[in-house]
Amino acid sequence: MSTRKLVCGNWKMNGLKADSVALVRALAERMAAAPPACDVMVCPPFTAIDRVVAAASGSAIAVGGQDCHAAASGAHTGDISAPMLRDLGCAAVILGHSERRTNHGETDAQVRAKAAAARQAGLVAIVAIGETLAQREAGETLRVVAGQLRGSLPEGASAADTVIAYEPVWAIGTGRTPSPADVAQVHEAILADARAIMGETKSAGLRVLYGGSVTPANAQSFLTLASVGGALVGGASLKADQFWSIIQTCP
Ligand code: 13P
Repeated sequence: MSTRKLVCGNWKMNGLKADSVALVRALAERMAAAPPACDVMVCPPFTAIDRVVAAASGSAIAVGGQDCHAAASGAHTGDISAPMLRDLGCAAVILGHSERRTNHGETDAQVRAKAAAARQAGLVAIVAIGETLAQREAGETLRVVAGQLRGSLPEGASAADTVIAYEPVWAIGTGRTPSPADVAQVHEAILADARAIMGETKSAGLRVLYGGSVTPANAQSFLTLASVGGALVGGASLKADQFWSIIQTCP
């Protein structure tokens, strides 16, 4: 577990092999010239992980997956297991992203089983939670994220093997964000809930990332908050200069 903040790029379903390698090389060059104050990770599509791991080798860039199956192996056509990600050189995997929850109907129970599998395989589970616009407008944000957190964390989860990503669904890819004060309120509630779920010792140092329309222009306003342990960046992580600018705002 690190006490440094973590800036993680979620590349989603973007980039062919050459694009992915060029992007990670550009990032590695910038990081070699000016080592950042935070940990840096990129989560390429499955098809590019092998090459991105090779291109990132020797740099401080960690690589993660964007999803995994709850089983280690078996008759699951089209799925990828946590040990397979680990075998490729991944250090972590994003689980329960709202695009998985919406497009693939993933439930908290499934996310929890995947997080347990990730842990078993030696991967850090980056568990994503967040409310919809309707839930926010109905004043249900804290109740929704508390429920997702409790439902998605596996038995025995600790800050050493778990990162939480708070991503309001309405902020993803929209250019809209909560205010830093709103983000701080939700992150403080998540940290308190995590203490209650994991216990004081296991939750110590837990990193809660903010995600949703993070840009070079707004990154500092989130990353300088004490309750924000880093950022999960989508669109802006696909441009080396933008992602690098975000990383550099880390205190
Ligand atoms: P954007 O940064 O494109 O809004 O995406 C956020 C996200 O979903 C990261 O997982």
